[in-house]
Amino acid sequence: MTDIDALVVMVNSLVKEKALTSLQKKITKEEERKYLKNLLKEIKNNESITFVIDFDGRTVGSCGISKNNSIIRNHIGDIGIVLCLEARGQGLGEKLFRKVIEKGIKKFKFKIIQLDVFSENKPAINFYKKVGFEMIGTIKKGGLHFSKQKDMSIMVKYL
Ligand SMILES: CC(C)(COP(=O)(O)OP(=O)(O)OC[C@H]1O[C@@H](n2cnc3c(N)ncnc32)[C@H](O)[C@@H]1OP(=O)(O)O)[C@@H](O)C(=O)NCCC(=O)NCCS
Repeated sequence: MTDIDALVVMVNSLVKEKALTSLQKKITKEEERKYLKNLLKEIKNNESITFVIDFDGRTVGSCGISKNNSIIRNHIGDIGIVLCLEARGQGLGEKLFRKVIEKGIKKFKFKIIQLDVFSENKPAINFYKKVGFEMIGTIKKGGLHFSKQKDMSIMVKYL
């Protein structure tokens, strides 16, 4: 909760940038508080792990992995990562992502990690390939980016 102001700034900077993520609406501190409360509950219940990158009191990146609640998909982790613009391209994303995967494997014994990404998000797709993800397929017009339908790619990493 002490990161709340910094998180609001980071999320809203990604919205402003129209980054190819699910963060598409500016949030208020109250909305972030609700989101964090829920996330902290998941963490306490051993359903999720989140790490953030803190730089000089500013949160410049966040990555989370969570357990799927379905009994048939309990061995699969869902992962997501965002870094704000000025923190990218310096190897920080890779360090953060690998750390979260390592913790997720230890804690949840995942066998597969999966994610979806807008197909036009080439830097992210390149990034995921570098850390061992493979492309499974594309859902045509499967995601909304500021109300516009765009193709979504599904990627997985087998462990
Ligand atoms: C995708 C993202 C997490 C990558 O983090 P990062 O810190 O910028 O990436 P790194 O500096 O650790 O780079 C690791 C590798 O990713 C790939 N990569 C990173 N940025 C890239 C770019 N702009 N173009 C092509 N490949 C890129 C490269 O393979 C790179 O390895 P290299 O430096 O040896 O060439 C970050 O750019 C980001 O948050 N983007 C905006 C939000 C987003 O799109 N999130 C993903 C939503 S699905």
